Order: sequence, then C-alpha cells, then structure tokens
Amino acid sequence: MPRFEYAPAPESRAIVDLRSWYGLFIDGEFVPPADGGVRKSVNPATEEVLAEVAEAGPADVDRAVSAARTAYQRVWGPMPGRERSKYLFRIARIIAERSRELAVLESLDNGKPIRESRDADLPLVAAHFFYYAGWADKLGYAGFGPDPRPLGVAGQVIPWNFPLLMLAWKIAPALACGNTVVLKPAETTPLTALWFAEICQQAELPPGVVNILTGAGPTGAALVSHPDIDKVAFTGSTEVGRQIARAVAGTRKRVTLELGGKAANIVFDDAALDQAVEGIVNGIFFNQGHVCCAGSRLLVQESVYDELLAALKRRMGTLRVGDPLDKNTDIGAINSGTQLERIRTLSQIGEQEGAQPWSPPCQLPERGFWFAPTIFTGVTQAHRIAREEIFGPVLSVLTFRTPAEAVAKANNTPYGLSAGIWTEKGSRILAVADQLRAGVVWANTFNKFDPASPFGGYRESGYGREGGRHGLEAYLG
Ligand code: NAI
Ligand code: MG
Repeated sequence: MPRFEYAPAPESRAIVDLRSWYGLFIDGEFVPPADGGVRKSVNPATEEVLAEVAEAGPADVDRAVSAARTAYQRVWGPMPGRERSKYLFRIARIIAERSRELAVLESLDNGKPIRESRDADLPLVAAHFFYYAGWADKLGYAGFGPDPRPLGVAGQVIPWNFPLLMLAWKIAPALACGNTVVLKPAETTPLTALWFAEICQQAELPPGVVNILTGAGPTGAALVSHPDIDKVAFTGSTEVGRQIARAVAGTRKRVTLELGGKAANIVFDDAALDQAVEGIVNGIFFNQGHVCCAGSRLLVQESVYDELLAALKRRMGTLRVGDPLDKNTDIGAINSGTQLERIRTLSQIGEQEGAQPWSPPCQLPERGFWFAPTIFTGVTQAHRIAREEIFGPVLSVLTFRTPAEAVAKANNTPYGLSAGIWTEKGSRILAVADQLRAGVVWANTFNKFDPASPFGGYRESGYGREGGRHGLEAYLG
C-alpha cells in the first residue's frame, strides 16, 4: 500500500480560551477550594501545562454534597419530568453548538486525535443528553412501575480515556431521573468537565443540580464514602472498583461499576478479511487503545492467519502517529507518563515471556508521551499480555482451529465486557455470540456506540448497565 505524504493540517486551538487557573464548581458557581491544593493539567502530546486546577478536599466534598442535597430536595426532585427534560435538551443543544471548542479542548487535555474527539466523542456526548432528555417525562412508561422515584444525590467518578463522554454517560441519565450529582473527573483530564460546568450555567440549570469537583484518588475516595450520597457510579480500573465496592459495603448506597476488559476479537476463516482488518485496527488503535472494551486479544482461525497478519501489517503501516490536533492523525498521545510506563512494562513482560512484538516504522515526537502501534504474535493464553488489560495500542494475537476453541479462549479471562465476531455466516454469529460471556458482542464491526444501547460487563468488568432504557434503572428507586 503506498504511503501518501500529507501536509500538516492542524486544527486551530484559538477557539479554546484557557485561563491559568480553575476552581471547583459548587452550587452553580466556581469557587476556590476550602482545604484542597492545586494540580496541573498537561497536554500529553507536548507536556505543556494547560492550566492549574483546584484539588477538592473533604470540606469541599461536604459542601458539594450538601448543595446537591438541597437542590434535590427543593428543586430538581420535585420538578416534573417534562420541565427537567427542557434543561437537558438545552444542555444538549449548547454542547452541539460548542462542539468544535469542546473537541479541541478534549484533544488538548487528553491527547486523542481531533478526528476522534470531533467525529466520535462530541456527537455521542450531545446524543446522550438528547436521548435522556427524551426519557425525563416518560419514566412511568420505562418498565419500572408507574411512578419510579429518583434515588437522591449521586457521587460519580470517571476516568480519563473519554472524559466528556463518560461525564455524559453519568450525568444525563442521573438528571433525567431527577437525581442531582457531584462528579469527579480524572486528574489528568479535568478541563472539559469544567467547560461542562460553564454550560450548566449557560443553560441556567438550577444551582446545585450539577457539581464538579476536580482532584485525584483521595477526592474520589472522599466522595464515594460521604455518608449523604445515595448512589455511587464509577468507571475506571478494576482495582479502584474493588476499593469502592468495599467502601460502600454495608451502607444503603446503590453502586454501579464499569471496569476493565480484555475483549476477544474473533476472526473466522470465512470472514471478509479486509473488512476484518479495519475492525481490528479500530478495535485496538482507536483512542490509543485506552478503551475498556478495546479488542485487545485477536483470535484468528489458523487457516487465514498468514493472510490476515500480512494485511494487518500493511494496514498498520499507513497509520499516522503524532500531533492530536492534526486532522490526518490516527493515533495520538498516551494520556500520561504513568500510563505510558504501564504500557511499556507490560510490553517488556510480553517479550520476556516469549511473544514477538512488531510495529510499523514510525517516527515518534520527541516531547510528550508516545507508544507506537504494536502487535504481539506467538502469544499464549498464559502470557500476561493475554490476560491483563494493557490499555494502550498493543494487540495480542492468538490462533484457534475450531469455533469451540475460539469460544473457550475468548471466555478464558477474568473480564467480560465486550467481544467481536467476524464471519460471513449469520448462523455462526448467533451461535458464537450466545456462548460468549461478554456484555456487548459486535458482529462484523467493533467499538460501535449508541445512547439507546446498554453497555456494561460481567465478572471483573463490573456490574450495572449504562445507556438505553437499562441505564435509567441505575438511577431509579
Ligand atoms: P483509576 O481507576 O485509578 O482512575 C479512575 C478514576 O478513579 C479517576 O478519576 C481517579 O482519580 C479515581 N480514583 C482513583 N482512586 C480512587 C479511589 N480510591 N476512590 C475513588 N476514586 C478513585 O485508573 P488509572 O490509575 O488512571 O488507570 C489504571 C488502569 O486502569 C489503566 O491502565 C486501565 O487498565 C484501567 N482503566 C480502565 C478504565 C475503563 O474505562 N474501564 C478507565 C481508566 C483506567
Ligand atoms: Mg491533561
């Protein structure tokens, strides 16, 4: 495949007006932290400091929870659904109007390519608010009884891989159901959540309905263990998910956890191989592989292994790694130095255990955090790179001979979030999907998301469902 040279096509960052410092968003206003410190958010592609952001301490958590409680009791809880939906529609429209600004900001703070923040993240963020705005006045018809009640105040903690999209997944259904929220974004990607706070002001959302507390692990821990929270929603690592489950055990708090994954992407010998290659690339290199449902284990039927691998390598040779703001970039920066270290360590372990890495020739920028797209062949099920979530642009390739072997290998994981099947046979899709223990199974496609479709996992991938009608259940009593 020829490799075309492109002139640089950077998106202008002038649309994003960054201040040097940001406070916490409590009770409808930006306020300085009472007892917390300050943390810098950097652009992972350049290591440039974008802004300093407040770190909320326990007194701030207390203030935010109490603002959310008051707003719940006095305004948002009693408000008819049809009125709540107007606010959600207004928020959705403002997000759509400001989507270019939000996409540039997301790429700056997170490192993801502008093509993805512009064409995937932002349209889905707006779609989630539109979708749940539509439910707010129809909750009595959602299958949870004639008059389902909100739970109260939700404490929500989200990760850095899809900062604004995870915020939308958490806030839109909570608000539609009549709950108020205190949300903590991840410490490396707080900025779009602060922009969202400003959008709440712009939409004239009543103060206290949405509160945003920036900060790291300790802020999240203080939030989920606050006694006046009714519901905890978390997306992030299985390890922190376990800590949170322990922290709320024995309380009356409701919990949903969306944790890691190690999805199998299964290619049968009758699959359309070029199409499968696109799906494999999208499955593991989308968002630098920082995706809980990433197709990080490729299972290939032995008879097409050579052909598929050759096609995959050719395709990987065309991937462009570099400036996230360049419209031609396919793979952006790794979100943080810490995450880069994790990816490097697991890749080294893969080599030590005997698997063979391969990457296309590509020049990585000197500054910032980067990892070349990589595949490991010769991987066995015992290898750590076949079992642990790498959460980076690294694919482990395994083979199988029969459908039964494919299913057994796919299910041989402590996780159970997603899976992919590539075959021309509809009957095989149904038969295999039926046996896979995964919350989402894609057929002849991968990483497709829609607000109407529920998402969530089994076993160490967590519990509860987000999205769709199912997603309402987590916020109704
Ligand atoms: P993490 O689970 O530590 O971070 C997620 C969020 O939880 C962040 O907002 C963080 O501040 C917060 N947090 C950390 N400790 C907490 C605590 N004790 N109580 C409450 N909140 C807490 O994830 P991290 O360290 O950024 O990434 C580690 C690994 O986790 C990754 O390599 C990846 O394998 C996995 N991960 C999975 C995600 C997913 O979407 N399922 C998202 C992010 C990470
Ligand atoms: Mg950042």
